[in-house]
Amino acid sequence: MNVVLGVSGSIAAYRAADLARELMRQGCTVRVCLTDAAQRFVTPVLFESLTGQPCLQDAFDEPERGRMAHIEWAKEADAIVVAPATANTLAKLAHGLGEDMLTTLAIASRAPLVVAPAMNPKMYADESTQAALTVLRGRAALVVEPASGEVACGDTGQGKLAPIEEIVSATMTVLRRSRALAGTRVLITSGPTHEPLDDVRFVGNRSSGRMGAALARAALLMGADVTVVSGPASVAYPLEARVVRVRTAVEMLAACLPLLAGADYVVGAAAVADYRPESPVSGKIRRSGETLDLRMVRNPDVLASLSRAATLPRPVFVGFAAEPDEGLEHARRKLAEKGLDAIAVNDVSGLGVGFEAPDNALTLLAPGVLEASGRQTKLGCALWLWERVAGLRGR
Ligand code: CTP
Repeated sequence: MNVVLGVSGSIAAYRAADLARELMRQGCTVRVCLTDAAQRFVTPVLFESLTGQPCLQDAFDEPERGRMAHIEWAKEADAIVVAPATANTLAKLAHGLGEDMLTTLAIASRAPLVVAPAMNPKMYADESTQAALTVLRGRAALVVEPASGEVACGDTGQGKLAPIEEIVSATMTVLRRSRALAGTRVLITSGPTHEPLDDVRFVGNRSSGRMGAALARAALLMGADVTVVSGPASVAYPLEARVVRVRTAVEMLAACLPLLAGADYVVGAAAVADYRPESPVSGKIRRSGETLDLRMVRNPDVLASLSRAATLPRPVFVGFAAEPDEGLEHARRKLAEKGLDAIAVNDVSGLGVGFEAPDNALTLLAPGVLEASGRQTKLGCALWLWERVAGLRGR
């Protein structure tokens, strides 16, 4: 496992030497990259002697002539750990500013990021630093919170580099996570469906597609090959995912069926309309009487149909159940009726979670499993869910 250890200019830079050694003890190859400010505190020679690897200092360093190090190292990295991370480096990472070798390398890499901030408590508490950390957490970076106490300048508060063992353990967590779905193929349904009434109107629902997008991002972070079949949602799906756009439930099922063979996981995150107008009018329904009767007919159940159509070796089927009343009984019934291996119950009753909201709270139901995620961002919930669902394969 290749770890790029980025060291930025904090007094705690000297502790990166212990961190490098501990990571090596865990079996990692450690390549160190120093920012300009870090070089005021520690030298490349220290890290080169310790790790036996070249230490990058400048954005144009090329330890092997003709091979751009920021691309090579970025490609080969299984994790990037920035410890200590200063306010300046965190801000650059959050905004994608490639002003030095470390930040350029971080932009070029798809490896998971661990940051361990260390700075004066006032700098740590500053809104700009906290905003940068929120942005990075939103991209699934693991933040190893600094400890509280007296810092080098004599001030007291939160800002001391976290204990080395916590940073090592966070690194091991992201390394494990990034391989959890390696080599697998994931099919996700996402977003609402729009069932036409006429050429300009439809029956739809409030699903934003954000949970589907989060599931896709999380699966990519965990090493899967991802296809999303999405109804009309404005959410941006990750560029690395294959996205098939559909409008109706019938189109969604037709798009999914050919993708079923070869899928290892099928996750139904779409809010599929259960009914569609029986006879959509071509053109526009004109205003006429005081009332308008609308006859609806049943739509196919996309996930249940896919589960029925699956042949051996069967993929793992995971459904979502949007329950306004914490109805685990309803969810249990859906699990059995739809032929699913697990179902994530989505509490849509509360404010700020579920439909259209950035956060979610899931309860996972599977044979012998009943576990709650607690309130987290949708990406946090998605990672939480995949970590559990990955274990259901081959069970
Ligand atoms: N689902 C589907 N096709 C449908 C309806 C639901 O694929 N026509 C999937 C959803 O993507 C979700 C799961 O089935 O993974 C449960 O969806 P939900 O709307 O909670 O359940 P329904 O079966 O529609 O039951 P009800 O609306 O009565 O609660």
